[in-house]
Amino acid sequence: MPYLETAVEIAREAGALLANYFERRVAFEVKGEFDLVTEADRASEKLVVERLRSHFPSHGIVAEEGGGHDPQAEYCWYVDPLDGTTNFAHSFPAFNVSIGLARAGQMVAGVVYDPIHQEMFTAERGAGAYLNNRRIHVSQIKRMAECLGSSGFPARKRDHNVNIHFYYQMAMASHGVRRTGSAALDLAFVACGRLDLFWEFGLKPWDVAAGTLLVTEAGGRVSDMRGAPHSVTQSDHLLADNGSLHGEVLEAFGEVFHGRLRVPLPPVP
Ligand code: IPD
Ligand code: CA
Ligand code: CA
Repeated sequence: MPYLETAVEIAREAGALLANYFERRVAFEVKGEFDLVTEADRASEKLVVERLRSHFPSHGIVAEEGGGHDPQAEYCWYVDPLDGTTNFAHSFPAFNVSIGLARAGQMVAGVVYDPIHQEMFTAERGAGAYLNNRRIHVSQIKRMAECLGSSGFPARKRDHNVNIHFYYQMAMASHGVRRTGSAALDLAFVACGRLDLFWEFGLKPWDVAAGTLLVTEAGGRVSDMRGAPHSVTQSDHLLADNGSLHGEVLEAFGEVFHGRLRVPLPPVP
């Protein structure tokens, strides 16, 4: 499909731009209370949006830093020009550019590119998921007790976020829970089996559009954290895993939603 090939080219170009800023250690500004933004976010968005517009003038674009237009169009691109800005601003090498395409609300193509490790994750609906052109699959771990998970916490209104309860229960019940600081990479890592599951509250369409397609095309499962179908534009939370774990994780999350904690937090001495 020409859409995916074009998105790959654009992601490679934007990734090179990000890597260049990363080497030069750019300054950051604070967008919200703890929400950082850099010149690199803006320059990458400008590049991606300009390229998409010139290739596909009839398509809509929803981009994190506000560069989009016409989100109701039949084809709509979701662009996170720099996912993992906090990492980036601290010279922590875990970030990517993420570009996903939906047709009539259904994801049809997605690219997540990590320019530091030169890893290009791609997926097309019905055609599988790939890492640097090699087919990838989710892990085969069957039990939560043996899984490695990941989750994240928002920069905005973080004092309203209840995820720490889910995080603690899952950390107690599994091999561990990572926090990479990049939701798109978390999803890409579930797709290629480096992680067995990922969940988070309050993600935006550009964080998850490409990554959720990677997971489903790699044989995994995506829903919201209560088990309802996940919508890139409307869901309040997301659970993505290798499919085998889905039922067990939903059961554990259901208990937390009902305030039943298997392992209470130990008191501070
Ligand atoms: C953030 C990252 C982070 C997640 C936050 C996102 P940004 O995106 O994906 O891992 O925990 O919820 O907002 O701001 O770096 O593009
Ligand atoms: Ca993001
Ligand atoms: Ca971003």
